[in-house]
Amino acid sequence: TLASMPSWLTAAESMHGMPILPPRPASANFKPDVELELFCQETEVAVLVGQKTRVQQYSAKLLHGPEQTLTAIPGSFLGPVIRLQKGQKVRIHLHNQLSENTITHWHGLHVPADVDGHPMYAISSGQTFVYEFEVVNRACMAIYHPHPHEATATQVYHGLVGAMIINDEEEAALGLPSGEFEIPIVIQDKLFDSQNQLIYSPGMHGSMFGFYGNRILVNGHPEMQLEVASRAYRLRFLNGSTARIYKLAWDDGTPITVLGVDGGLLEQPENMPYVMLAPGERLDVWADFSNRSVGSQLVMRSLAFSGVVPAMGMGMMRSQAYGLPVGSDYPIFTARITQKVTDSTKLPSTLSKISRYSISDSHNPNQPVPITISEGHMQMLLNGRPHAYNDVQDNERIPLNTVQLIEIFHDQGGGHGMSGMGMGRGMGMGGMGMMGGMMAMAHPIHLHGQSFQIVSRSIDSANEGGYATVNQGFVNSGLKDTVLVMPGETVRLIKPFQDYKGLFMFHCHNLEHEDMGMMREFLVE
Ligand code: C2O
Ligand code: CU
Repeated sequence: TLASMPSWLTAAESMHGMPILPPRPASANFKPDVELELFCQETEVAVLVGQKTRVQQYSAKLLHGPEQTLTAIPGSFLGPVIRLQKGQKVRIHLHNQLSENTITHWHGLHVPADVDGHPMYAISSGQTFVYEFEVVNRACMAIYHPHPHEATATQVYHGLVGAMIINDEEEAALGLPSGEFEIPIVIQDKLFDSQNQLIYSPGMHGSMFGFYGNRILVNGHPEMQLEVASRAYRLRFLNGSTARIYKLAWDDGTPITVLGVDGGLLEQPENMPYVMLAPGERLDVWADFSNRSVGSQLVMRSLAFSGVVPAMGMGMMRSQAYGLPVGSDYPIFTARITQKVTDSTKLPSTLSKISRYSISDSHNPNQPVPITISEGHMQMLLNGRPHAYNDVQDNERIPLNTVQLIEIFHDQGGGHGMSGMGMGRGMGMGGMGMMGGMMAMAHPIHLHGQSFQIVSRSIDSANEGGYATVNQGFVNSGLKDTVLVMPGETVRLIKPFQDYKGLFMFHCHNLEHEDMGMMREFLVE
């Protein structure tokens, strides 16, 4: 039935008409405060007991700048933490030592279009691309990961992902836990074969639902045990999975104390019963173990929920076959208290001041820029179109230095004419009952460039799928760059488009969806 795959595959192919650009060189008049080399390479690492695992890996070398710029995560094969200060000028030489094309995107950073990792800048094996930018973001945790055409998911899955932490003075004044007490928590799911090698075979099902593994790795470790002292920690979560969405909660019912999200600190800490973390999203957590006794432990779990994949869909069947159904309950990591210490670090009651826009500040208060998600015909589309080069539509053109009201609308077939069409016809899926809303699933939508504010979320109760099982887990008060849009949900946001002209992508951060064309771009002009 692969022969009956729809026409959008060919449409996505049209992006192959992309110009092959020469790799960007260093510019003579850019004077970096920090300069580093970043290598994308293939290597073998010990992940499971026994045979080593072939992975793709970022490694880095500091050429010039403060020593704390690079810190490896102990024992991890993931990329080192790149720590930058607001205001620094940064030059990064990306060396492609893979046997395939790649390019790196700084997810969450506001940088010029030519150094944002657009797939048209992908370099081939052996080439070097030079990034130069100034850090203008406030303190936050960004991600660095590949973004080559149709190969983002496989490269991230095979290990090319890392955390980039931005610090600024406002945050430093808070005295939050730092050094060994600030721990990145990069969560990924993987599937291994009997030789300990990674299996990645999304195929047709993956294009619909994403690829799911059956083992949870934290910082590259299965069954992660975190040894902690009886004091406060700052845990910096990043969902580095290609498709899996987590509903994070402490197993003893302790609320999750949220300090920040994608775009940095909240104004005040917020206690949440659980937090939803979709691919591409980050979460900054205050974890206080000070009242716990040595020998005790606390487990972070992903709790059961529904509505993120179709109840009857192939994705569910497939992930059940893998032994770790999406939306089931399973552990992420265990924190073991191994040491008694006295520590006076206190949770600040005020964290930050977020400068916000109101709808009336926007260029288009009565006419939001639409981002329409549609599912049907086995397609996952944005604004009714697959990604293609040189295909910017009128409503994807944004005047420079404007603030835009954007409405992400998850079309459930209520009149926009996309979903429900012809489902089950000629797809070789007879009997799956995948009609109309049954196809609906959640999509984490990511917009490149500046962070946005969420101004409203509303759910179409006639079409909701599992909303009640997740909706207390959204942190809507902070600045975001990725937002999980549930089936039947409409999310309004306000986003500035300042400083830089050019093409800035927006896409589903279910990376299988992205690679299959669920990506468009804004032309800022
Ligand atoms: Cu994290 Cu365009 O991606
Ligand atoms: Cu998606």
